[in-house]
Amino acid sequence: MTEESKQLNHCSFCGNSKEVVKKLIVGDNVAICSDCVELCQELIVDENVEPEKQEPQYDPQAIKDFLDEHVIGQDEAKVVLSVAIANHYKRINNPPKDLEIQKGNVLVIGPTGSGKTLLAKTAAKYLKVPFVVADATSLTEAGYVGDDVESMITMLLNAANGDKQLAERGIVFVDEIDKIARKGESTSITRDVSGEGVQQALLKLVEGTVCRVASQGGRKHPGTDMNEIDTKNILFIAGGAFVGLKDIIGNRINGTSIGFNASVKDTKVEGDLGKVGPEDLTKFGLIPEFIGRFTTTVSIKELSKEQLIHILTDVKNNYVAQYKYLLKLDGIELTFTTEALDQIAENTLKLKTGARGLHSEIERVLMPHMFHTKKYRENDIKVINIDRDNVLEPKALI
Ligand SMILES: Nc1ncnc2c1ncn2[C@@H]1O[C@H](COP(=O)(O)OP(=O)(O)OP(=O)(O)O)[C@@H](O)[C@H]1O
Ligand SMILES: [Mg+2]
Repeated sequence: MTEESKQLNHCSFCGNSKEVVKKLIVGDNVAICSDCVELCQELIVDENVEPEKQEPQYDPQAIKDFLDEHVIGQDEAKVVLSVAIANHYKRINNPPKDLEIQKGNVLVIGPTGSGKTLLAKTAAKYLKVPFVVADATSLTEAGYVGDDVESMITMLLNAANGDKQLAERGIVFVDEIDKIARKGESTSITRDVSGEGVQQALLKLVEGTVCRVASQGGRKHPGTDMNEIDTKNILFIAGGAFVGLKDIIGNRINGTSIGFNASVKDTKVEGDLGKVGPEDLTKFGLIPEFIGRFTTTVSIKELSKEQLIHILTDVKNNYVAQYKYLLKLDGIELTFTTEALDQIAENTLKLKTGARGLHSEIERVLMPHMFHTKKYRENDIKVINIDRDNVLEPKALI
């Protein structure tokens, strides 16, 4: 066979012969198989999309679609959050001339480990804006020991690599906001003044003010660059678990108030976080001025067992894929039976830490196997199939 005729019987790209490929398209001294055509098509389509260069769309549906890829469930929260975010960025990109549109910050409430921080972080990723998480409990009023509230803006400027304009469009997530609530609406003697003080200190910042912050690691004079940052376009998202808020909502809706009469305790009805009103938040201990600056309230729900299983297996960067990858590095294939996944989710539910518990659960189950990978290799064990018994009682195969 001449070299030329060999080429025409083989794909010039992958070298496969026409017998093994679906179709071989032959041209002048060149041939390409259907598999390589498909691959080229993918490469070209990918190139045309150029995801990094595309401007994000401020369309709530597009934002929600992106959130759906990373966050399981929480549908209502995603809708409300997407609309709030779209409106915020539409407003700052097209500032109205004779009209003042008030900034609306967002309050996210719901149980621990259910996606509050993840939702905000994913939204920031979609918007390609800098994002920081600050812990409200570490904040203090100016003059007290601790981080004053403006430290959050310093963090944001650093997250934007010192780019002032980018920082001014960023998102600050203030976590554990419920922990700075004062202790009770009418208990002025025992009330937690420091928590209220931090709320007061946050007011100006979340509404919009200019603060002077030093950008650490400034290119020329590290630590000495002072920047004036206007916070009026920074989106603040405050999040908290608000334990006890359901009871407050339930009591309001059912027309009773705590301590009104002794039997109330016995007939306590848990309220729905979705029905939260400003009065409930005041009762919880947020000051009205603070609540007034968070115009959108997003409530998220406890994750169900099915949702936990989805998080384990379906979400981008899911835990199962992560551990499969790790074990593959040792030449071991990892599989889980449906019952095993069900049991891991069941155990996680009991921990009451939301999806956060999944990580420790899967670690616990795989620990003996991961410890013995060398032994497995020596004994030619190439597959680990985790079933329900392995979850109930994790132990090595040998
Ligand atoms: N709905 C979800 N979909 C996918 N992953 C989730 C979801 N909720 C939580 N997770 C996973 O659990 C981890 C913790 O979630 P996240 O930090 O959002 O919890 P949170 O609601 O902010 O809790 P906390 O009140 O304790 O701050 C995330 O990093 C993610 O891996
Ligand atoms: Mg959080």
